[in-house]
Amino acid sequence: MVAWRDAGGRLIAGPGACPHLGAPLAQGPVRCGILRCRWHGLALDGAPFAGWEPFPAHDDGLLAWVRLDEAGGERPLPQPVLPDRPRPAGAVAAVYTGTGRCEPEDVVANRLDPWHGAWFHPYSFVDLTVLDTPAEHGAERPDGLTVQVSFKVAGRAVVPVTALFTAPGPRTVVMRILEGEGQGSVVETHATPLGPDDLGRPRTAVVEAIVATSRRPGFALARAAAPALRPLMRAAAGRLWRDDLAYAERRWHLRTSGRHPG
Ligand code: FES
Ligand SMILES: [Fe+2]
Repeated sequence: MVAWRDAGGRLIAGPGACPHLGAPLAQGPVRCGILRCRWHGLALDGAPFAGWEPFPAHDDGLLAWVRLDEAGGERPLPQPVLPDRPRPAGAVAAVYTGTGRCEPEDVVANRLDPWHGAWFHPYSFVDLTVLDTPAEHGAERPDGLTVQVSFKVAGRAVVPVTALFTAPGPRTVVMRILEGEGQGSVVETHATPLGPDDLGRPRTAVVEAIVATSRRPGFALARAAAPALRPLMRAAAGRLWRDDLAYAERRWHLRTSGRHPG
């Protein structure tokens, strides 16, 4: 697939092979919104051309989405189901992307298991308590898991928060901070199947959007430092996902080799 922005900044996406002789379009330069094939100069402005048809694409301001109806095999929606996010003007956002040899359900299973947090990630979390689960709370809250946990920040400093985990779609898990430092901040985890690797094992992309906000007066300063903060936020997510992808990959391995019923 190839994706770029047209002259008006609109997200365009489509098949990655040039309709002429199949050159990789993703390697072509974009000038003034026109993508040009490197082999013989075929030009695409995003409109259907010579058998090349764009895919439906959606830019939500933080993540770019492309709808692959054939690959998806599901009833298509006009746009992705997205949770509420803090206003961009009052937030710092970063996106982490990683890939695991597992299926989306293994990533979702990991994300909906808050109990592992303090055991498996002692470098990030302490004092974790699952306050309630969907069976325990009524209709006043969406189906979800409420967790009280302390994030480890620098040195011995910890920040206690209450967070709610929900699944607004079959491959998305959202964590929202309900109380404590960073109230209103959101971590959105999207698991996207990528198809099998050379050995036939499934691959799944984890795309995680971290949208941090705070009511503290100093947060405006943090926003000004967003370009410096983003790599740190991504690195923190990457450290957790190194472990969590190992969890998801093992679940897939045991499930598909019939060695574990889970
Ligand atoms: S292969 Fe793209 S223009 Fe020929
Ligand atoms: Fe985890």
